[in-house]
Amino acid sequence: MAVMLDARGLRVEVGPAHARRDVVRDVSVLLYRGEIVALVGETGSGKTMTALSLLRLLPQGARGEAKTLRLGDVDIAALSEADMGHIRGSRISMIFQDPLAALNPVRTVGFQIVEPLRAHRRMKAGDTKKRAAALLAQVGIPDPAYNAKRYPHELSGGMRQRVLIAAALACDPEILLADEPTTALDVTIQAQILRLIRAETERRGLAVLLVTHDLAVASTIADRIQVMYGGTIVERGKTRDVLREPNHPYTKGLLDSVPTVRRKLTPLRAIPGSPEGVAAIRQGCRFAPRCAYAIDRCVVEEPPLVEVAPDHESRCWVFAPPKGGT
Ligand SMILES: Nc1ncnc2c1ncn2[C@@H]1O[C@H](COP(=O)(O)OP(=O)(O)O)[C@@H](O)[C@H]1O
Ligand code: SF4
Ligand SMILES: [Mg+2]
Repeated sequence: MAVMLDARGLRVEVGPAHARRDVVRDVSVLLYRGEIVALVGETGSGKTMTALSLLRLLPQGARGEAKTLRLGDVDIAALSEADMGHIRGSRISMIFQDPLAALNPVRTVGFQIVEPLRAHRRMKAGDTKKRAAALLAQVGIPDPAYNAKRYPHELSGGMRQRVLIAAALACDPEILLADEPTTALDVTIQAQILRLIRAETERRGLAVLLVTHDLAVASTIADRIQVMYGGTIVERGKTRDVLREPNHPYTKGLLDSVPTVRRKLTPLRAIPGSPEGVAAIRQGCRFAPRCAYAIDRCVVEEPPLVEVAPDHESRCWVFAPPKGGT
């Protein structure tokens, strides 16, 4: 299968020089054509920073680096800012949690959907109108010619997210980064938007990174899951394998707290402790303060990501000890 995005050794640091901390460490993201990879973890685990670093769009004060950052045969890390600007919104698109904040309140949705086409493809005004209606139809908006003339506040939250998806797909990108795209929506609409993302992924051969704090969302849509905790990947594998045979104590805890994924009849059980304060931990396994299985080594040394089954990796001294016993 073709790797469309190949990012390895991602690292993001924040804070002033004397109090620098890394909020993303040793993260890799490999996206294949036609596949959805979910990046799952609690708030603050570094998911958004990871996604933004792929676009080289980190907020002020954050610094990113990557061992490898390639889009097809293009070395993104080596591009000038101007060339990177051409890639954003055309070859790699991103959608966010809050469509209202991402849309301009004083422009019609039709105008905004084709904005990337005007910016990247220099399309003529007459052509963009037809294209806007066609894109709205593709993302399931009824009466597209009429709705194209409406303003964001006149649409429901679900419709607005469809509009953002249409805008993100306008230039036929290869990669879609979706950061909590359904978190602000109610459950029924959430399912519809996830189905839309799935359908477009298959129809267009997109490669998608879906960022979510919700393992239930990841399990319904993703081909592969990467679980993040405290700035790094603690487990990753095919969705089916991670759900059936979770290895890492954090993943097991996440699964136990999602009633629809496993243990349908047991009451919802949260992972003890909270991820707060994890940023202050600078060595060892970042999950150690909340882990029931921690051994002495856990607080001293961060475990490596180790293959526990084919195409399934975990980062844990106890459940995924390195072969050869380093
Ligand atoms: N602009 C910023 N400046 C400094 N630190 C930030 C900034 N944005 C986020 N962080 C910190 O980076 C860490 C990861 O944040 P983020 O990637 O947004 O997590 P997630 O998306 O998983 O909720 C958090 O500890 C957060 O406090
Ligand atoms: S490395 Fe240690 S603290 Fe971390 S998850 Fe494994 S057992 Fe728990
Ligand atoms: Mg986030």
